[in-house]
Order: sequence, then structure tokens, then C-alpha cells
Amino acid sequence: MSNDKQLSACEFRELEEDELIHVDCLEHVYPDGTSSLHNVCFSLFKGEIVVICGANGAGKSTLVEHLNGLVKPKVGRLVVLGQEVTQKTGVITEVGLVFQDSDSQVFAPTVLDDVMFGPLNKGFTADAARLAAICALERIGAAHLTNRIPYYLSRGEKRLVAIAGVLAMNPEVIVADEPTSDLDPFHSRQIESVLFELKTDFRISIVIATHDMDLAARIADRIYVIAEGQVIATGTPRDIFYNKSVLARANLNEPTAVRLYKRLCQGGSASDFKPVKEHDLVKLLEGVIGKAEP
Ligand SMILES: Nc1ncnc2c1ncn2[C@@H]1O[C@H](COP(=O)(O)OP(=O)(O)OP(=O)(O)O)[C@@H](O)[C@H]1O
Ligand SMILES: [Mg+2]
Repeated sequence: MSNDKQLSACEFRELEEDELIHVDCLEHVYPDGTSSLHNVCFSLFKGEIVVICGANGAGKSTLVEHLNGLVKPKVGRLVVLGQEVTQKTGVITEVGLVFQDSDSQVFAPTVLDDVMFGPLNKGFTADAARLAAICALERIGAAHLTNRIPYYLSRGEKRLVAIAGVLAMNPEVIVADEPTSDLDPFHSRQIESVLFELKTDFRISIVIATHDMDLAARIADRIYVIAEGQVIATGTPRDIFYNKSVLARANLNEPTAVRLYKRLCQGGSASDFKPVKEHDLVKLLEGVIGKAEP
């Protein structure tokens, strides 16, 4: 797909090499008749972080709930890790899904039991499942929750446990629906860096649904913008975040670095390099300030 292509007509595409998740012309209608996805095409390739950006009600959760076969396509095509998903396919456990609502994911008597549940279900021995659970909890800074009762956890704590439960299963793909909502800045950063390290160190491929544009700017290799159940654009963060009309159509803001850069340039352009992350903007300003006359 070309960068920032406006997607209108739907086409069935060939599967590409290294394509882990392939969605073509997906439609979804809820039982009450609410139509939530139309003609959605989407791809996830090995080793990338793809962010699905969209406003409330745009269809992000509906789309991500398809990506491990939890919801099956009635219209359209879904291929996950080479397997065609049909009404008869079970949930694909190599794709770990972190739900937006952690209450529906965290339910065992203790946090440790909860995080061990997935690995045990996957056939790990009790010792291996315990080890995987403890490692996952430590990794995201939630070891202190190990013996707590999930029911009494705060929303942010529940989210951490849900993420640990997915990590403990050693998935090939992680799909996280609003992974940092409800989290304080410390845990938010921690989850962001865990997701980033899973990509860089373990080549785990990641899909994140969010309307946090700063998070998307920092972490995405590619972005899909979804509005009213349709993918309206896809491209690199730079393509998307400097496209005013796409952001306006999707009711999304620019990331902070883009907004500040545009204000500083007042419509003009200070350089050919357009920053999308705070770090990029700081580097650019350091260059400008360094060159300024004393
Ligand atoms: N179980 C359901 N039954 C009927 N309609 C639903 C159901 N779940 C979601 N919808 C509707 O489908 C549309 C897409 O919802 P979805 O939850 O996928 O959006 P979202 O982008 O994840 O929004 P948010 O940012 O608020 O989480 C919305 O119009 C929503 O009201
Ligand atoms: Mg949602």
C-alpha cells in the first residue's frame, strides 16, 4: 500500500512475504444492527509496530478483536499467521490480545494464578507457567502485585496484570487495545518501553490501538487512521501527522512535537526534516540554537 493512500475502493490482495496478519474488505455489524467496520484492509508485517489511530467509536476495538480470531469475519478475509480465519476457527493463541477493558481479562483468584492461566492453557508445566508469570510481572514492574486478589486491584493495576498475562504466553504478535490508558506516567512509560523492546530485542510484532497521538508518534513504524469504521489513511508517522485533512477527518490532534514545530515555524518550514517525536524536535532546535549568532 502506498504511503498515506486514501483508501476507498476495496480489493482482495495477495498475501505478502512476512505478512503475519492480513485483512481484506472486512465488515462488521453488531447484533443490534450497529455497523462498525466497512471495507477494512489491514496488514501487519514481521517485526513492526503498527498503530491504529481513531477517535472514540471509530472501530479500533472492533478491528483489534478480530486480529486473534476472537471475532470472526462474516464479510471479508482474515488470515492470521498463515491461517485463514473462518467461523469455525478457534482463538489464535500466538496472537496475544490485551483488551481495552481489563475487567474482562483478569479474573483468577490471585494475580499469579491469573498470569499463569494462559501459559498453563498453552500446555506449559506448572513450574514453567509460574516462572513465565513471575518473569512477565517483573518485566513490567508489577512484581509487587503477584499475590494480590485481582478483584480489588485498581484499573491501572488490572491493566498491568492483563499485559503480563499476554507477555507470559510468549506470543508472536501482541495486540494491545489502549495499553496505556488508566496508567500513571511511570507505568505508561514502562509499558511503552516493554512493547518497544519486544519489537527490537525479540522481533515480536505489535499492534496498538490508541487515540494518544504522542504515544503513536513515539512508537509507530506505520499508522492506520480509522474513522467511522473505515481506514481513511495509512503511512509513516510523518506522512500521517503532517496531513491536516486526514487528522481533521478522523477528529484527531497532532502530536505535541508536530504542533509545537508548526507553531515555531508559523506556517513556514525551518528544515526539510519534519519532527514527529519530542526527541526529534529537541535535536532540531539544538541545531538551530547552536547555529544562532550570540
Ligand atoms: N457490543 C456492541 N454492540 C453494539 N454496538 C457496539 C458494540 N461494541 C461497539 N459498538 C459500536 O461500534 C462502533 C465502534 O466501536 P469500537 O468500540 O470498536 O470503537 P473504538 O474506536 O474502540 O472506540 P473507543 O476509543 O471509545 O474505545 C461504535 O459505534 C460503538 O458504539
Ligand atoms: Mg476501543
